[in-house]
Amino acid sequence: SVLDMEVEQINKGNYEHYMQKEIHEQPQSLKTTMRGRLIRGGSCKAKTVLLGGLKDHLKTIRRSRRILFIGCGTSYNAALAARPILEELSGIPVTMEIASDLLDRRGPIYREDTAVFVSQSGETADTLLALEYALENGALCVGITNTVGSAIARRTHCGVHINAGCEIGVASTKAYTSQIVVMAMLALAIGSDTISSQERREAIIDGLIELPNKIREVLKLDQKMKKLAQELMAEQSLLVFGRGYNYATALEGALKVKEVALMHSEGMLAGEMKHGPLALVDENLPIVVIATRDACFSKQQSVIQQLHARRGRLIVMCSEGDATVVCPGDNCRAIEVPLVEDCLQPVVNIVPLQLLAYHLTVLRGFNVDQPRNLAKSVTTQ
Ligand code: G6P
Repeated sequence: SVLDMEVEQINKGNYEHYMQKEIHEQPQSLKTTMRGRLIRGGSCKAKTVLLGGLKDHLKTIRRSRRILFIGCGTSYNAALAARPILEELSGIPVTMEIASDLLDRRGPIYREDTAVFVSQSGETADTLLALEYALENGALCVGITNTVGSAIARRTHCGVHINAGCEIGVASTKAYTSQIVVMAMLALAIGSDTISSQERREAIIDGLIELPNKIREVLKLDQKMKKLAQELMAEQSLLVFGRGYNYATALEGALKVKEVALMHSEGMLAGEMKHGPLALVDENLPIVVIATRDACFSKQQSVIQQLHARRGRLIVMCSEGDATVVCPGDNCRAIEVPLVEDCLQPVVNIVPLQLLAYHLTVLRGFNVDQPRNLAKSVTTQ
């Protein structure tokens, strides 16, 4: 009806689509996610993290033999992005499970496990069934959802709400970045009793506080990503190479492109390049390489060299000021992004790829907010 259309226009504000609004909302949604959770506390007034829904369970989590991350789609990718920092700060092995695959295998889960269920809606059927399975097996079950009162929020023993605000676009954007931030805070909370990582933890907290401003900066790439989308709109396929903290960025960037722009796209682990993907490389296939500064930077530089040697058509995402450092020749475009604490870099790096997917979709004339065949919440198996 006309009224529905008007309400929709008010909700979207000055934006054409919900996905666009939700991408640009991220400085604000991240602030809400962190609100009241980064504090100065303890005897020495050090910066710490307070996650109210977890504080009574932290001891049990610290004692667990393994942490399992379980989710589907973008929520799985968010967990993958947080995995390295959780391993680093907890010292506990962290394994990843796609909910349906865990159910297909009925993989072993024990009482000594902490199972973390990540879901924007809190209603995804596979994730919910995996939760029932983990409960039966006696694991401590933690929920990370955006929806207060959702099935996953209710059935888990404890949890954290990401507080990103209602997300309407089927393709998840602001929930993804808030999920990563919550899981980084989870890592900080679990590690908070370890003196040796105190400085590292404080640096990450400082990084979190600065993050909304960095996202505001990276959003300025909007028009640049639109131009890139114009160059790529007629392509059949797009590869995205990442590693370390940004392996997840590669998977999630490719997922955005395939689900909304309906263009074939694959995210790949750069360390696996020589074991197959290199055969695809020619001067036509566009390849995004994520090479922002972190401990993997020199390895990514050599990946770029090898792709260049095979005349690959490169788009390199790099840290500000690095365009000339990373680009080996004319057949290369650079996307410069602000540098943040390494484990938070995936929050910044996904934004240009969200913008690229958005503009590709508009240019290709597809439905941005309700992609063909997809649903926001998959409540059937
Ligand atoms: C669907 C949505 C995705 C989402 C996934 C998991 O496939 O289209 O955007 O990432 O479900 O949803 P959840 O609500 O569990 O995060």
